[in-house]
Amino acid sequence: MTPPPDPSPKPPAPGTGPSPEPGEQPTPAPLLADAGRPASAPPADPTPAPPSTAAERPTLAPPSSAAERPTPAPPSADAGRPAPPQPSADVERPAHAQPFAAAERPKPAPPFADAERAAVYRAIAERRDVRNGFVGDPVDDAALVRVLEAAHRAPSVGLTQPWDFLIIRDPARRKRVRGLAERQRDAYAASLTWPRAARFDRLKIEAIVEAPINIAVTCDPSRGGRNPLGRRSQPQTAPYSVACAVENLWLAARAEGLGVGWVSFFDERELAAELGLPAHLEVVAYLCLGHVREFATAPELALSGWARRRPLAWAVHDETYGRRHLPGEAPVNLIEQTIAAIQPLDEAAMRDARDHQARLTKPPGALGVLEEVSVQLAGLAAISPPPLPEPAAVAIFAADHGVHAQGVTPWPQEVTAQMVANFLAGGAVVNAFAGQVGAEVTVVDIGVASPLPEAPGLLPRKVAPGTADMTEGPAMTAEQARQAVETGIEVARDLVSAGARCLITGDMGIANTTASAALISAFTGLPPERVTGRGTGIDDATHAHKIDIVRTALHRNALLPEGGRGPMEVLAGVGGLEHAALAGFILGGAALRVPVVLDGVIAGAAALVAAALCPDALGACVAGHRSAEPGHAAAVEHLGLRPLVDLELRLGEGTGALLALPLVQGAVRVLHEVATFDSAGVSGKQEGPE
Ligand SMILES: Cc1cc2nc3c(=O)[nH]c(=O)nc-3n(C[C@H](O)[C@H](O)[C@H](O)COP(=O)(O)O)c2cc1C
Repeated sequence: MTPPPDPSPKPPAPGTGPSPEPGEQPTPAPLLADAGRPASAPPADPTPAPPSTAAERPTLAPPSSAAERPTPAPPSADAGRPAPPQPSADVERPAHAQPFAAAERPKPAPPFADAERAAVYRAIAERRDVRNGFVGDPVDDAALVRVLEAAHRAPSVGLTQPWDFLIIRDPARRKRVRGLAERQRDAYAASLTWPRAARFDRLKIEAIVEAPINIAVTCDPSRGGRNPLGRRSQPQTAPYSVACAVENLWLAARAEGLGVGWVSFFDERELAAELGLPAHLEVVAYLCLGHVREFATAPELALSGWARRRPLAWAVHDETYGRRHLPGEAPVNLIEQTIAAIQPLDEAAMRDARDHQARLTKPPGALGVLEEVSVQLAGLAAISPPPLPEPAAVAIFAADHGVHAQGVTPWPQEVTAQMVANFLAGGAVVNAFAGQVGAEVTVVDIGVASPLPEAPGLLPRKVAPGTADMTEGPAMTAEQARQAVETGIEVARDLVSAGARCLITGDMGIANTTASAALISAFTGLPPERVTGRGTGIDDATHAHKIDIVRTALHRNALLPEGGRGPMEVLAGVGGLEHAALAGFILGGAALRVPVVLDGVIAGAAALVAAALCPDALGACVAGHRSAEPGHAAAVEHLGLRPLVDLELRLGEGTGALLALPLVQGAVRVLHEVATFDSAGVSGKQEGPE
């Protein structure tokens, strides 16, 4: 075994390295404090399993009951020493592979001592991707070797160890590499909506020149012989293994007080050529390493508002994908969990916003409905002024409808899929309006009848290839409705985690105004003829037929006002998959306290579902516009929402909501930017004589 490294590296003393800035000499961030091990002791290897003696050697057939469970290896004083060679594997299994005798009741291997464990978790929690604050102090060679050793201990497929570490210090070369990254940075910026591009412009995404050391971590996929164990079915396991090495390096560097930043703004082949790598090597990671002034307390991207961390509970599933909850916690249905997280609007924040509005340099109430919007959004965010609802993201939920078979529209069902292709190609009205207001467009296939090819910007979340015909029975099963609502919640969560500060509802589905009318009739109690419109523009005969179809569907699903069905039953009975997903999208936004700007009649119908499930969800909703569909007026009136614009639109897709977005943003911007009478030295209105 190689001699243990010196575990107590001395961080360079302040002032010993090159000064980063004239007049400024920051002290590098400290190492993680030694946790429970003597300063002179090497970092202990995990205790390998000791060989069992012949007497202890277990018999075959591992026992199954808890009482019979095998005794795992006790800690060994031989920590770090490899296990001695075992007798021929043909004759005897190695000790670690031996099953255990029933008599040997297992004792689990002990954990690290508390302080050691705390140190491990601390390194994990405090590891940061560092791009800011590198100081010029040189990196001690011994520390660098320890960090590389940590990387080299990483797990690898078939123990192939496909990594290599190319250390780059030459400033001229680093400058050239930075030039490559800058080109990619510009290309990425050009792909963003303008609010995102403006935010991106403020981000530092690499420290190639500022950090004293760069390390290119490569993958040699040809290493490990002809047929390495485990790699045959999944060749990607080679670069996965290299990523494990990078993480080890990153954690060890944190413990050493060294910052590491991973740069991926490269054309990989271009970078490999610049580094002069053999053609069969792939660059997995390009790292910038050095002492830093301090480690940020949270990911820099989170601190800057670019993206949010997802809670662990969103990522842990119990047996079945979608049954999310943490071990030991009671399984909670995602819909219930989301509803439980929705709070009423915060009264104190609303009061602050109203007071603030009253002090602004304008006559009180002069901004009319916009003042109410600003107060609502302050209540939603529980702070005044609330965050600017920017950047915004529109999610277009696309689905087909079984009721199409009843001839409620002259448009063929294929148009749903064709319009999805149009959205993805950027050719629809929603794209033009989204471009105008800088909103990102995401299309969600929640139930398009035909299979859709993969495409950037398309989320494949098909619950079913369209609904069933609601005149013949429920449009959806209860399970499909639940799944679609949950998908909407997830989409809202994902968009918010990715940085959206305002959600916009979009929809596409030939025949979805028929389903909307049925939902609106069921929730408002208004008769079908009051809420059924002409959708894409049908003639009188088709309109009369459509009203009949809505009435039939309500009858068939026992959803007449006296029906007494719950919201999910109404939804499953006559709703569309996009209505269900939109209801979830609204609930998801409300739970995250992010405003949701509603488009027209489809969103209005979905908002009825969401409000029936959780009335407080309406606190997040702003009705973007009033649609020409009669059902929409009924829905917003029932919900008590005030549409911001009324342009006789009846397109859907999210278009009306996008037009309203600048109004919502303007309403909040006023609270942020407009001077108060005090601050501007403007006299307020004179109080009249008593
Ligand atoms: C594969 C990979 C590539 C990354 N590439 C970049 C990059 O090019 N630029 C950058 O600023 N951060 C990059 N990061 C860092 C992430 O933004 C960072 O890990 C994430 O925001 C979480 O922050 P934290 O590492 O401080 O916890 C990369 C991270 C990984 C894992």
